[in-house]
Amino acid sequence: MAIKTVLRMGDLRLYRVAKLIEDVRADFVKEIVTDMYDTVISRAGAGIAAPQIAYDYRIIIFGVPTPRYPNTGIVPETVLINPEFEILTDRLEGYWEGCLSVPNLRGWVERPNHIVYRGYDLEGCLIEREAQGFHARVVQHEMDHLDGILFPSRVKHTRLLAFEDEAGFQELKEQVQAGQFL
Ligand code: NI
Repeated sequence: MAIKTVLRMGDLRLYRVAKLIEDVRADFVKEIVTDMYDTVISRAGAGIAAPQIAYDYRIIIFGVPTPRYPNTGIVPETVLINPEFEILTDRLEGYWEGCLSVPNLRGWVERPNHIVYRGYDLEGCLIEREAQGFHARVVQHEMDHLDGILFPSRVKHTRLLAFEDEAGFQELKEQVQAGQFL
């Protein structure tokens, strides 16, 4: 029950491969999830992974409503423990991703836009869902954190990483829209 400091890019704890949880119903898991919720809500994030608040475990939450990512379709609010996913398409879709661990930056990241994912909830029940669009993206983004990967390492072109409040960002968005970085 605490708002935690979100680790920022450069903190080596973000680059670990997080540990599997053996007993998904253990009390410490519930405590970590509470801290994750308190923290993600306080920062208006759409999701968060346990390593971002220094817990070295495979837990993610996503689908938290936030004005930072409007108009992204309905993503069910979900806690997922020991998550996995499989890609169901060859089709990639791009989007300007952000991350609480990479404040103020956005990067154009292409990811498969159709996946199936599974993992356990806090009661130990298996959740399995197909996801498309932003839903598929946020799950992949959060799962990347569990393997020590931050979105800047996935940007299509190094120039497509930019401060979101920079005047030129709008122009960069238009260039991408016009296909200049294909
Ligand atoms: Ni992130």
